[in-house]
Amino acid sequence: MLNIGIIGVGTVGTSVCQILQDNKDIITARAGVELNVASGVVNNLSKKRDINENIKISNNPDDILNDDSIDIVVELMGGVEGPFDVVKKALQKGKAVVTANKALLAYHRYDLQEIAGDTAFEFEAAVAGGIPIITALREGLGANHIQSIKGIINGTCNYMLDKMINEGVDYDVILKEAQELGYAEADPTFDVGGFDAAHKLLIMASIAYGIDAKPEDILIEGIENVSPEDISFANEFGYALKLLGIAKTRGDKVELRVHSVLIPTTEMLAKVDGVMNAVSVIGDKVGETLYYGPGAGGDATASAVIANIIDIARKGKGSPMLGFKTPLESGLHLASKGDIETKYYLRLQVEDKPGVLSKVSTILGNRNISIKNMVQKPIDSVSANLLLSTHLCNEKDIKEALEIFEKENLVLSKPAMIRIEE
Ligand SMILES: NC(=O)c1ccc[n+]([C@@H]2O[C@H](COP(=O)([O-])OP(=O)(O)OC[C@H]3O[C@@H](n4cnc5c(N)ncnc54)[C@H](OP(=O)(O)O)[C@@H]3O)[C@@H](O)[C@H]2O)c1
Repeated sequence: MLNIGIIGVGTVGTSVCQILQDNKDIITARAGVELNVASGVVNNLSKKRDINENIKISNNPDDILNDDSIDIVVELMGGVEGPFDVVKKALQKGKAVVTANKALLAYHRYDLQEIAGDTAFEFEAAVAGGIPIITALREGLGANHIQSIKGIINGTCNYMLDKMINEGVDYDVILKEAQELGYAEADPTFDVGGFDAAHKLLIMASIAYGIDAKPEDILIEGIENVSPEDISFANEFGYALKLLGIAKTRGDKVELRVHSVLIPTTEMLAKVDGVMNAVSVIGDKVGETLYYGPGAGGDATASAVIANIIDIARKGKGSPMLGFKTPLESGLHLASKGDIETKYYLRLQVEDKPGVLSKVSTILGNRNISIKNMVQKPIDSVSANLLLSTHLCNEKDIKEALEIFEKENLVLSKPAMIRIEE
């Protein structure tokens, strides 16, 4: 029998206890040993919990960390520095650790890998909840150079964009609804600002490329500035608007970025609706593979946590935490935040008079930015929105062109820019 201590018996922790009980037969058969939740740690001891009453509950993580009979520590408390202390101590004591905590890994995965050494440290649930994307990247695709990862990895944003696009609901209204449904955090910045997606992207990028970057090092934009005009352009030109986490190689550089993008409606990622998650991975040998499923929810997340526990029970230890046994020799390095090459959609509010269009075209043309589509939508008798998309170009050039539009008073309001991935 292996004894498990769960630090944080909230939404996911409770589901872990329940599933280990409900599916005990199949889980024992797969693990080859009985898995017993011996103890749990919570903040509030008086809160009622729907778990087996034989599980000892305390409010002190040390009760689990100092208990020599505990083999596997499951960290499900949330946060960064508190869990870091807990996980560090558990690993130093030689206990296997499973966590679903992406924020912890976004900041401390390399420190923890070092501390873990050969002790199992698993985190399947930290990225895309119930989808086994970590195992896919670390094991299933192990033979490949990963050319790109593109993921819808924040269900709240995907749900909100869907409602804005398909039902024309305003951003503020849909944000309130997402909070009421329990999708968005009480402080929604974490979701809508792209930070949650960035944490998950960083974890995947470590496994794919061995890149030790922190959230501050990468481009992170959310969905707060998406407007109805952008959505109508997307519809008109056959694009879907999504918040994507993108990792891709360009020569010896790896671009890591989170922002809203336009993707052709024909792509599979464009068809991912509501709170679901999906990740597309392109490997140089396998081609494109796609992973789809629930990115959150107690049971879906617990399903991934328990998969890790079963794996630890079977193997004693996992594969190297971030996938590499020796450092990567290909010399890949993180591209700086502004060093991006892609296609762009621009929305420029301009005066509706002769000469404006040619000035816009000249400023773009002087920077080797070539226009793919353009449409003019009247706003009133004197102004119009110019909606245009470009061919592949450099973000530095686009940013420079946008600055000049403003400096030369060619635009009546701040121009909007959305990157296009196709
Ligand atoms: N929920 C999801 O769908 C989901 C999906 C993927 C990943 N995750 C990750 O899974 C982790 C847990 O999420 P959750 O939704 O289960 O959170 P949750 O419902 O808020 O549960 C957190 C648990 O930790 C306990 N806790 C918090 N701080 C503590 C402390 N300092 N000492 C002792 N206990 C403490 C809480 O105690 P009380 O119960 O007394 O408050 C609660 O039982 C997070 O890292 C989250 O990012 C969650």
